[in-house]
Amino acid sequence: MSAGVFLLALVVLIGPATEALDNGLALKPTMGWLHWERFMCNIDCDKDPDNCISERLYMQMADVMVKEGWKEAGYEYVCIDDCWPSHQRDAQGRLQADPKRFPGGIKKLADYVHSKGLKLGIYADVGKNTCAGYPGSLGYYETDAQTFADWGVDLLKFDGCYMDRTLLGEGYINMSHALNKTRRSILYSCEWPLYEWPIRQPNYTAIRETCNHWRNFDDVFDSWSSVKSILDWTASHQDIIVPSAGPGGWNDPDMLVIGNFGLSHDQQESQMALWAIMAAPLLMSNDLRDICPRSKELLQNRRIIAISQDPLGKQGYRTLKVDSFEVWERPLSKNQLAIAILNKQEIGGPRGYVIGAVPGWKTCDPLCNVTQILPQYKEMGIQTPHSSLVISVNPSGTALLTVTPISKLHWQNMSVKHKHPTIL
Ligand SMILES: *[C@@H]1O[C@H](CO)[C@@H](O)[C@H](O)[C@H]1NC(C)=O
Ligand SMILES: *[C@@H]1O[C@H](CO)[C@@H](O)[C@H](O)[C@H]1NC(C)=O
Ligand SMILES: *[C@@H]1O[C@H](CO)[C@@H](O)[C@H](O)[C@H]1NC(C)=O
Ligand SMILES: *[C@@H]1O[C@H](CO)[C@@H](O)[C@H](O)[C@H]1NC(C)=O
Ligand SMILES: *[C@@H]1O[C@H](CO)[C@@H](O)[C@H](O)[C@H]1NC(C)=O
Repeated sequence: MSAGVFLLALVVLIGPATEALDNGLALKPTMGWLHWERFMCNIDCDKDPDNCISERLYMQMADVMVKEGWKEAGYEYVCIDDCWPSHQRDAQGRLQADPKRFPGGIKKLADYVHSKGLKLGIYADVGKNTCAGYPGSLGYYETDAQTFADWGVDLLKFDGCYMDRTLLGEGYINMSHALNKTRRSILYSCEWPLYEWPIRQPNYTAIRETCNHWRNFDDVFDSWSSVKSILDWTASHQDIIVPSAGPGGWNDPDMLVIGNFGLSHDQQESQMALWAIMAAPLLMSNDLRDICPRSKELLQNRRIIAISQDPLGKQGYRTLKVDSFEVWERPLSKNQLAIAILNKQEIGGPRGYVIGAVPGWKTCDPLCNVTQILPQYKEMGIQTPHSSLVISVNPSGTALLTVTPISKLHWQNMSVKHKHPTIL
């Protein structure tokens, strides 16, 4: 048994190491849309009214999410990132939205988003300023938590710029308590470990008790090299971070950039497959008003979303790295297993991988039913532990499969009932 498989088995047995933040939220990885990667700090509404950070952007995104099947697929949160506030707090010391770009204010925007059956996320910072230089929440945690609750906000992304790193944990914990004190259910998305790693190994027990998800590593960019660097970081720290994930609290590898400019279709499939394996929040940052049909179909793929949202709530591991292949596996409910086979060779054509070489393939003893989900849906039928089935994977693409163990007796019964030709 390789170390990865052993860990996988161990984690399935013992579950997450600690209690999650007790606010009843994020029992499955959060799904929604977040403006940052695609729209950044574009505040020039005179020159670029359609893409600037304004109430219009979130209202239009909410409209599209309902009309185009996003909400139905499970995407629920419409999230504001940095650059929404005014540079000044109001006379009572409260944050206020930029009056020109958010003439209705955040409360009205939240009402609008709620009227569509969706939820609204907002952004603030644990330190003196936000990363883009807007007012931070240091010294105002209770005021800001109450302001967000009064507005009807449903999620807070809390960044870590301009903060004394020795006080980071205290700040994140204080804000968690402040949110709780408002008595409104507000999902709490942290960046605590990302800012703590440079000084020491973060305490994931404390983080899981404090936050509903937490960023560990750099911001995602719209490029394959960025997605690869996130996967590499995750795999090389998996023994530390994976055990802390579970219902109520998740590792956050940052936004899905599917539907933008930088990833080929195979690379988009790789991001979608691996984010599902990692039990990552699925927060898209793209322009849902203008997205290519293939990207849309991928992001709304019910079978991939089912892996992401699997009720067992275990994060997957990279279990093997051989040649330029990586195998990632995630245990699912009902003893099912999801397998992602990533081909990192960026030259040549599709390459074959023998599925029997997957470390967790022992789940197929004595028999299993294999379904390929990516790159296209294909029922691969009943396999045995010695299967010589070869899966073809494109350069920088990923094959995503589910394996359902079946007992021999059950199979014999089915063969009789449905007159399946027996393959044994
Ligand atoms: C606040 O914390 C308590 C104790 O952990 C919990 O029972 C309660 O549901 C929390 N309330 C909110 C609104 O998160
Ligand atoms: C957190 O709250 C404690 C108790 O109120 C306080 O002493 C401490 O200064 C706070 N820390 C930060 C960073 O706000
Ligand atoms: C990590 O945090 C937990 C929960 O707050 C605490 O009980 C534990 O002592 C901390 N561990 C270390 C090594 O500081
Ligand atoms: C195998 O899985 C496919 C897809 O879920 C399903 O349609 C098929 O009935 C299953 N076959 C058996 C023998 O369970
Ligand atoms: C096989 O079929 C028999 C009779 O229908 C049933 O009693 C038994 O539980 C089935 N076994 C399995 C493993 O499905």
